[in-house]
Amino acid sequence: MLTEQEANKLEAELIAFRRDLHRFPELSNEEVRTAAQIAARLRELGLPVKTGVGGHGVVADLTGKLPGPTIALRADIDALPIAEQTNLPFASEVPGVMHACGHDVHTTVLLGAAALLAGSRDRLAGTVRFIFQPAEESVTGAKRMIADGVLEGVDEIYGLHNWPTLPAGKVSGKPGIFHAATDRIEIVISGRGGHGSMPDQCHDPIVAAAAVITGLQSIVSREITPGQHAVVSIGSIHGGLANNVIPASVELTGTVRSYSDKVREQLPERIERVASQIAAAHRCRAEVNYIHQVHAVINDEQCSRRLRQSAERVVGSENWVEAEPTMGGEDFAFYQLEVPGCFFWLGTGPHENAENAHGLHSPLFVADEACLLTGATVFATLILDRLGIKEEGGD
Ligand code: NI
Repeated sequence: MLTEQEANKLEAELIAFRRDLHRFPELSNEEVRTAAQIAARLRELGLPVKTGVGGHGVVADLTGKLPGPTIALRADIDALPIAEQTNLPFASEVPGVMHACGHDVHTTVLLGAAALLAGSRDRLAGTVRFIFQPAEESVTGAKRMIADGVLEGVDEIYGLHNWPTLPAGKVSGKPGIFHAATDRIEIVISGRGGHGSMPDQCHDPIVAAAAVITGLQSIVSREITPGQHAVVSIGSIHGGLANNVIPASVELTGTVRSYSDKVREQLPERIERVASQIAAAHRCRAEVNYIHQVHAVINDEQCSRRLRQSAERVVGSENWVEAEPTMGGEDFAFYQLEVPGCFFWLGTGPHENAENAHGLHSPLFVADEACLLTGATVFATLILDRLGIKEEGGD
């Protein structure tokens, strides 16, 4: 695709672009500078750019010489409310905000693919749509971009996530279930507050909350069919202000994960029943708000096969890793509800002891930048394999 010299030049550009994004991360729905940088780079490549799609989203189409399918490639662009601790020379300069999920990597990889393909218009039968999506972390970006028509005319969609426990140079994926459905629960346990020395005169929501949290753990172990998968994790507890006061209420929030629709459908009733009846046993009341957030990422068989074939041509079949699905969520799932697609992982971990790498959402998260050119080449190869004009009489 490129001479060694051209590849080195592009890689240097990608690293510089990514480090700039890394220094100035922006939270979900605030991606103003990031979007401007992306749009400017796409315009330099001669592509027509649409901005303000679904918030701060940016979209560009590369239309081939001949008609053909439209294939979308998607990257997410937002950062997280985490204070970076890496001490990298290009560490975040925005207090309390960090690209700790590597969406700066995804953005740069997709721009790299655009750079590799921009000069190939004459070799393409079909259209490539580059989708730069805001607000993935807040799980609102994909939905809003779809509402703004980003999938109109799209036949297939592909996207990736960097993966710190997979060494750089490797690519991983699987057909079928890949990322879990992700839901949020909010539980308010109300009792009757009073003096800590007189619990008999109170209905203690602290003790009720402790029992509810423990009781919720029995849903996965006792109510989900063994072999099926689910997670119920409580992530926050807020209640009380003083050591000697029984508060009137306690608030809990948590995350609920599942793979199958059947399991997912059962979870709201189970959580509601366990929480409310355990609270009632403690003379308290539990109100459960179950918020459906993201469907599971389910990879289309044919798209998965195509992605794997192209990826293996780039990294070699020995560097393809058949994935185990994760309980992590990803709003790429919204696109897959509309069109067939495949989501995959790009290795960004160290070559040795990848399992000891600091994971996604860690303040110490570091990505191996060797992944940038690899990821861009995988995307570009996929497009040339899918849309490349086959020469008649060629070999
Ligand atoms: Ni992410």
